[in-house]
Amino acid sequence: MILSIESSCDDSSIALTRISDLKLIYHKKISQNEHQKYGGVVPELAARLHTSALIDIFEEINLYFNDIKGVAITNSPGLSPSLLTGVSLAKAISLGLRVPLIEVNHLIGHIYSLFIEKEEIMPLGILLVSGGHTLVLEISKYNEFNIISSTLDDSFGESFDKVGKMLDLAYPAGEIIEKLAKNGEDKFKFSIPLINSNSNNFSFSGLKNQVRLKIQDLKEKGILKDEINNICASFQSVAITHLINKLKRILKNHKFKHFGVVGGASANLALRGELENLGLNLLSPKMEFCSDNAAMIGRVGVVKYKNKDFINYKDLKIIPNLGYKKLVF
Ligand code: KG4
Ligand code: ZN
Repeated sequence: MILSIESSCDDSSIALTRISDLKLIYHKKISQNEHQKYGGVVPELAARLHTSALIDIFEEINLYFNDIKGVAITNSPGLSPSLLTGVSLAKAISLGLRVPLIEVNHLIGHIYSLFIEKEEIMPLGILLVSGGHTLVLEISKYNEFNIISSTLDDSFGESFDKVGKMLDLAYPAGEIIEKLAKNGEDKFKFSIPLINSNSNNFSFSGLKNQVRLKIQDLKEKGILKDEINNICASFQSVAITHLINKLKRILKNHKFKHFGVVGGASANLALRGELENLGLNLLSPKMEFCSDNAAMIGRVGVVKYKNKDFINYKDLKIIPNLGYKKLVF
C-alpha cells in the first residue's frame, strides 16, 4: 500500500491506497474549525493543529505498517508551516519503515481525485476551482501539465470565502453561500468581470467589491438581513457566469476529449450544472473528494510508485508557491 499525507492548508488527512487494485483501504481527514473565528486560515495555528491531528490519525493505522511500500506527501503548493508538518512526518515514516518517499503536487492530487479507485483517463482538460487556485489546464501525464488560464487576483473559492466574511458567515463559506443562494434570486445583477476583454484569465476582485458596496448600502438602509439570500444568489450567479464565459472562449481553441472539474469548489452543484450544459464529456470527483484529502494524494502516489518516481529524503523540500506557466516535474 501507499501511505499518503495531505497537510498543505487546514485539513489533516492520511490515506492508505492498495497498489494492486487502487482500493482505498483507509482514509481519514480532520478539518480545522479553529480558524473560523479569524475568517481565514492562520498558518502557524494550522501547523500546530496538523502536528497533533496527523499523529492521532497515524496511530490508527499501525496495523498496516508492514504493508506500506511507499510514503506519498504533498510538498507543493500550500502554506509553508502546514506543508512542513506533513513533509517532516513523511520523512520520519519513510526512514522508520525504510520505504521510498514520493513527492506529490497538490494540484495534480486534485486532478487525480477524479480517479480514486478508478483507472485514469488522459489526456484531459481541467477546471480547477479551489480556495487557492482557479485554473484551466491540460494534462497529458501525471508529471506534465500546461496552464491555459489562471486568475489575475482572487480565486473562485476565495471569493466565496470573502463574501462570506462580509456577511459574517462561517469560514469556509462556499458551501453556505451555495445553500443560501438556493433561496434567493439574482436580484442585484452585478456586472460580469472582464466581459469585453480578450483575455482568457479570470478575475474575482471586482465582483467582490461590487458585493461589498451593495452590502454596505443594504446595511445603511437596515435591510441587509432580508437580502442575504439574494446577495448570495446574485454573487454566485455572476461568479459562475464569469467562469463559464471564459471557459467557452477557451473551448473555441482547445478541444478536449474529456474534461474534469476538480477542487473544493467543484462541489458546487450550480457550477456543475452549468458545466454540464457546455456539452463536455464531464468528469467530476465524488463529493467527499472535492476538498483537500489524502486519498487523491495516494492515488498519485500509486502512479509515481509504479514509475519508480521517488525522491531522496534529503532532496525533498517544500515549494509553497508555483510561479510558472508551464510545469514539468
Ligand atoms: O480544494 P480546497 O479544499 O482547498 C484548497 O486547495 O484551496 O478548496 C476549498 C475552497 C474554499 O474556498 C471553499 O469555500 C470552496 O472551496 N468551496 C466552495 C464550495 N465548497 C467548498 N465554493 C463554492 N461552492 C461550494 N459548494
Ligand atoms: Zn486543494
